[in-house]
Amino acid sequence: MAEWSPSSWTQKPIKQDVIYEDAQGLQDSLQKLQKLPPLVTTQEIINLKKNLRNVALGKAFVLQGGDCAELFDYCSQEMIEAKVKLLLQMSLVLIWGANKPVIRIARIAGQFAKPRSSPTEVINGVEMPSFRGDNINGFAADPVSRQPDPSRLVSAYFHSAATLNYLRASLSSGLADLHSPLDWGLGHVITPSIKEQYAKTVRAVKDALRFMHTVGIDKDRGFETADIFTSHEGLSLEYEQSLTRLLRHPARPGSTTTAPETGYYATSGHFLWIGDRTRQLGGAHIEFFRGIANPVGIKIGPSMAADELVQLLDVVNPDREVGKVTLISRYGAGKIATFLPGHIAAVQASGHIPVWQCDPMHGNTQSTPSGVKTRHFTDILSELKQALEIHRAAGSFLGGMHLELTGEAVTECVGGAGGLTEDGLGERYTTFCDPRLNEKQALELAFLVAGFYREESEE
Ligand code: PEP
Ligand code: CO
Repeated sequence: MAEWSPSSWTQKPIKQDVIYEDAQGLQDSLQKLQKLPPLVTTQEIINLKKNLRNVALGKAFVLQGGDCAELFDYCSQEMIEAKVKLLLQMSLVLIWGANKPVIRIARIAGQFAKPRSSPTEVINGVEMPSFRGDNINGFAADPVSRQPDPSRLVSAYFHSAATLNYLRASLSSGLADLHSPLDWGLGHVITPSIKEQYAKTVRAVKDALRFMHTVGIDKDRGFETADIFTSHEGLSLEYEQSLTRLLRHPARPGSTTTAPETGYYATSGHFLWIGDRTRQLGGAHIEFFRGIANPVGIKIGPSMAADELVQLLDVVNPDREVGKVTLISRYGAGKIATFLPGHIAAVQASGHIPVWQCDPMHGNTQSTPSGVKTRHFTDILSELKQALEIHRAAGSFLGGMHLELTGEAVTECVGGAGGLTEDGLGERYTTFCDPRLNEKQALELAFLVAGFYREESEE
């Protein structure tokens, strides 16, 4: 394999490229980014990698979720807290259901760049570049704000930093303290049946904690706080390259390996993934991803051939580290049964051991007759349930789920116990990209998935 460097991707064909007219401005922004400190540390990245190894081996579960497109505007106390609380609540429910530790990864603090099906769109009769995410151009519907602005890359860094700062500070100040889970306010929208189920889970957790307190084993770090890792699509390679650093690997106590002491870490977030539109063998994104030490995700949909999938794993993970790669499958409820079994079989035959994660969102997007982009709760649930069953039948393990959700009471996906209908979508439809599960729908989904796991273990 040819030599890799943080810039070797520039020699490869690239999809979803951004053309900056202001070449000098771009260089200035990238130089600034190169000087700024890493957003995350090697120790944190390696901790996540170890956790994901456990997921790949079936010993833990991973919950990943957040906005489709994060905006700079979402960098506020309320919105960060709402998202963190929701992920914590969902993970509590999943721990109870799967009876396994749950690794939490948020699509946050950097999930700005968006791939688009079309580079331009026509709004009110005017053709203009599509919105590519807050780190690239502005959403406002005029050709000027839609021009790629390189100073947004620096802004993305500072918004990520501020978000991450508040995330870390609130977690270390007790936002996730398991001793008081009832303080994880459920919001005003929860239905009585979900509230009751949630209260039951909380009671079970409280009983367990009381027991541990009585026997004196609750003093370790871990009950007062929780880890939440950050993730985003590694789409803007200029940005990722600028934050990729040659760093010393964290000390591995007792390790006697002769492995190199340093490696390249993408320090913009703990976990980066490659989208379904940019994962071509021989393309720029795969080239960049093959050189970084972080755990990485690859989205796989119906257009992925089984042999291509194995070749991708060989390129991105030549050392076959267990759990280094997370395969994020997103076929759609009507297609998963056609594609997932073949993909699992090919990967099993190759000897790679990835994390298998189901993204039940991106294959289930549809438009209402009036043209509103939505997703049906029943399709989302159906893809998840099928994923669980297909993995189980193949002797494989569904290690996690990848969701688009928000802590706000939005009306973007149809269905769920709250009975949101297509007519109700207009009420609070605030996404700037794909439709997200609201707090109530997300928690309900967590309960239903937890229920599948409990049914499995009771069989
Ligand atoms: C996304 O995760 O928001 C996304 C664009 O997904 P995909 O690459 O699977 O279409
Ligand atoms: Co999306």
